Amino acid sequence: MSKFMDWVDARFPATKMWEDHLSKYYAPKNFNFLYFFGSLALLVLVNQIVTGVWLTMSFTPSAEEAFASVEYIMRDVEYGWILRYLHSTGASAFFIVVYLHMFRGLLYGSYQKPRELVWLFGMLIYLALMAEAFMGYLLPWGQMSYWGAQVIISLFGAIPVIGDDLTMWIRGDYLISGITLNRFFALHVVALPIVILGLVVLHILALHEVGSNNPDGVDIKKKKDESGIPLDGIPFHPYYTVKDIVGVVVFLFVFCAVVFFFPEMGGYFLEKPNFEQANAFKTPEHIAPVWYFTPFYAILRAVPDKLFGVIAMGAAIAVLFVLPWLDRSPVRSMRYKGWLSKIFLLVFCVAFVILGVLGVQAPTPGRTLLSQVCTVLYFAYFLLMPFYTRLEKTKPVPERVTG
Ligand code: HEM
Repeated sequence: MSKFMDWVDARFPATKMWEDHLSKYYAPKNFNFLYFFGSLALLVLVNQIVTGVWLTMSFTPSAEEAFASVEYIMRDVEYGWILRYLHSTGASAFFIVVYLHMFRGLLYGSYQKPRELVWLFGMLIYLALMAEAFMGYLLPWGQMSYWGAQVIISLFGAIPVIGDDLTMWIRGDYLISGITLNRFFALHVVALPIVILGLVVLHILALHEVGSNNPDGVDIKKKKDESGIPLDGIPFHPYYTVKDIVGVVVFLFVFCAVVFFFPEMGGYFLEKPNFEQANAFKTPEHIAPVWYFTPFYAILRAVPDKLFGVIAMGAAIAVLFVLPWLDRSPVRSMRYKGWLSKIFLLVFCVAFVILGVLGVQAPTPGRTLLSQVCTVLYFAYFLLMPFYTRLEKTKPVPERVTG
């Protein structure tokens, strides 16, 4: 075995990569459960790719056959139902895991210097993931697939001058048709997965270049022993590979419970109108995107003007990209930031959840007002950050991690 590895290592850096990224990658010893979500995101990514490849074997990307081919997968293909439910539940699980992963970043200031690129690659992943989910949702060619896509694509029509041409270019037709379905299929199955995989590699390479942050936000590289190993670091393998298995087991329990017992999740993971085939002549009573898009959809609807609504929605995502440059705090972790930062983060999270709930509901004057208030609170978290992070009194950060 060792002779074989010597042979490989002389030609390919297998052992070097194993050591650099696993057995000699020193991670802070105080990771808590919030650090499970990066590896869980990897797990869900693998699940989506594997189940997606198998679904593709029996799916037909045409307006005439797509809906029926999904029914065929559910009823006639051996284990087809489980492949589909693993994939549809996996989409929602992906966003749950990624939202918690991002929340951890906000809580511990993981986006701050020197991890700006880790955050930026993460944000690009998030954008690609939204595009991936949006295009995947058109494929079963149900009523909500069709009308959801109709609403989102028509948003591009609000852009002055080029709007109409742009929507036509995206659809490839005068209305959403089999041509749109076919190109979304190509992008969903081939192009975007490649982009996401590439970005994940860049994300992890950037992280391993600077090292992981931790719940204390302490830089463990500042205190090293004689051999240059951080005193508060432990090798990722075996310590965190084994610890992550605990997270994986808990996650799989919950995930499988949903797959086997509540795959529709009361209409939130698989929406009810999608059990009916797409019909260009019949608009569903109430069109709502899947839950993971609804906070942004609520921001869009909070603004009375269509163009400004689209701009507000775009800005809500764009502002996350510049987060590393908005935070002027001398400390990273919320443990040592002042009470202003704590309140703003709490209010931001509550506003985001309320927006998500409002986004699935039909608008009423009261709900619109609430979504306007929450939109202001959402942006306040970011736009006031340069001020409150500089103004507030922070606590002293310990020299070493606190266990
Ligand atoms: C497919 C999606 C993603 C995958 C597979 C992924 C994977 C990972 C992994 C394996 C880690 C190291 C383990 C950990 O710290 O949890 C990590 C760290 C990190 N990720 Fe992601 N990630 C994804 C999306 C994102 C997104 C959307 C963001 C934010 C915009 C993000 C921001 C970060 C940050 C800031 C860190 C460093 C955390 C720290 O050191 O405290 N990631 N990611």
